[in-house]
Amino acid sequence: MSMTAETAGMTVIPSGAACGAEIRGVDPSQDLPQPVIDAIAEAWRKHLVIYFRGFDLTLDQQLRFAGRFGDLGLRKQAPDGLRERTEGILQTNEYTLLVSNMKVDGKPVGAFGEGDMWFHIDSGYSEKPYKYTFLYAIEIPSKGGNTLFANQYMAYDDLSADMKAKIEGSKALHIHEYKRSERVDLAQDISKVPHWFHPVAVRHPETGKRALFVDRLMTQRIEGLSAEESESVLNQLWDHAENPKYVYEHVWQLKDFVMWDNRCLTHGRTWFSPQENRLLRRCTVEGTPLGG
Ligand SMILES: [Fe+2]
Repeated sequence: MSMTAETAGMTVIPSGAACGAEIRGVDPSQDLPQPVIDAIAEAWRKHLVIYFRGFDLTLDQQLRFAGRFGDLGLRKQAPDGLRERTEGILQTNEYTLLVSNMKVDGKPVGAFGEGDMWFHIDSGYSEKPYKYTFLYAIEIPSKGGNTLFANQYMAYDDLSADMKAKIEGSKALHIHEYKRSERVDLAQDISKVPHWFHPVAVRHPETGKRALFVDRLMTQRIEGLSAEESESVLNQLWDHAENPKYVYEHVWQLKDFVMWDNRCLTHGRTWFSPQENRLLRRCTVEGTPLGG
């Protein structure tokens, strides 16, 4: 990293796992000079997941910081029949999604709140999956609800030559019914369920590196293969891509601010007790169509 006066106090501490690094000496709530943003971006491209710890961060400060890395992503509106799964009563900002299991007067304050969540790519079911996701911890349970990040550059690189050849040039269907740990039944009419086709292995638009781009929650079918073969290949890819050797497990602390790149990572969540509260404030940066 090139050191300037502005970045002199910044340190990057790798998690020791396959991805993830903490940045210290920079307060993300502040209006940061461009060299600091550039230094964060450089560390981000290298470590894929970046986290800051212990800073107070208002909604406006979070959005200002995220906006330094691209256009803020609008919260996706689910189709009518699925909308109650995403609309929480405290979700009043169009760029913000509250990830929470909490309820007020029996009504959810946010979305995706309870239990575990399978590995997925945020808005992977859309034409332009979010580039980046930013999550700030406002309430966390005493244990569990950890976020697992799997490095999909490494997962792709380690595939056998046969598997790389098999998936080269192929696309897969990503579809989402706003569930957390259940696949979509493709026997139904999917025209009203958000879905899109992406290359099974994408080329990251900024680094130029290949990354596996399938996930257990939303990827349903590889084009051009029989249902049976698609299922077999996807199961092999998921089992491979979720190998703990590719995973950094983020154990949340209050006021953690975590940011990650959806084009080269999948992420999931471990179970936590429904008796405990968990509230994280999410915002995103809009993506671009992905090529292979
Ligand atoms: Fe997510």
